[in-house]
Amino acid sequence: MNTKKKIRILAPATIANLVCGFDILGLAINHPQDEMYLEVSNEPGLRITHTDRYNLPTEPAKNVAGAALLALMEEYGDAGLGFDLTINKIIKPGSGLGSSAASSAGAVVGANYLLNNHFSKMDLVRFAMNGEKVASGVKHADNITPCIYGGVTLIRSIFPLDIVSLSAPPMYVTVVHPQIEVKTSDARQILRKEVQLKDAIKQWGNIAGLVAGFLQNDYELIGRSLEDVIIEPIRSILIPGFDDVKKLCKEAGALGGGISGSGPSVFMLSKEETTARAVEQIMKSVYDKIGVDYHVHVTTLNTEGVWVKEV
Ligand code: HSE
Repeated sequence: MNTKKKIRILAPATIANLVCGFDILGLAINHPQDEMYLEVSNEPGLRITHTDRYNLPTEPAKNVAGAALLALMEEYGDAGLGFDLTINKIIKPGSGLGSSAASSAGAVVGANYLLNNHFSKMDLVRFAMNGEKVASGVKHADNITPCIYGGVTLIRSIFPLDIVSLSAPPMYVTVVHPQIEVKTSDARQILRKEVQLKDAIKQWGNIAGLVAGFLQNDYELIGRSLEDVIIEPIRSILIPGFDDVKKLCKEAGALGGGISGSGPSVFMLSKEETTARAVEQIMKSVYDKIGVDYHVHVTTLNTEGVWVKEV
């Protein structure tokens, strides 16, 4: 074990689903990122401190980072192992930007560094899913995986885990976070359990097109494939301004976009920075007009995933 070491961890925000790929596609972005500090302790067990304003639980089993770390510690199997974790949460919980995944993924990547990379990245995804279960009641990996691997990722299967990292061309990502609350558990509850075959055919055509577009650096194909006929028509009702944002941003030249994760954030992909900036202005004017507070980020794909450095 890497004793006496203290590390600083930065864990990127992520955009899950990527419109048509519900629960299977996701990408990491460079801004915002959560910050954490992790230290090996002589005292066995896990202690968590939050230095942010979100008043999140610090009891390890009830904390998303804690649940992920406890799973890792149990599998490591050393009863004497102890960690002190300090979390400075920057990605607002409930934003749709993978806040819980950043905590879970950041914590296990950091711990693995201190354990001399004892576990594989796939193991870390498996541990971090315990944090998602605490956050939303469901183990899903479409935020955790890009957070750990960086870039664009495909979760072909969760049980057993089958992860594919996808190459992708450089892209700008504009994200607006309207300051309303949409709980992931609620946004999952409202979904229909059955899908019509004609919708399924459209959806898997789009997913295949999107994956091919990423691999072939084909921006037009990426844009055409960013269409969701199953989830978005239901969830978008929870997000004021959604239809206007989407229509106006595409008219301004964005490749396309949609709900980030389970919302309420909305993202748009652009090939050029000038388009991403024009999209930012459109998002601002839509939310100014309807009188909903918001934050907007213009950022790029994060290709590294969780960042760790000794301090
Ligand atoms: N795939 C999940 C959902 C992501 O859309 O419910 C939640 O962040």
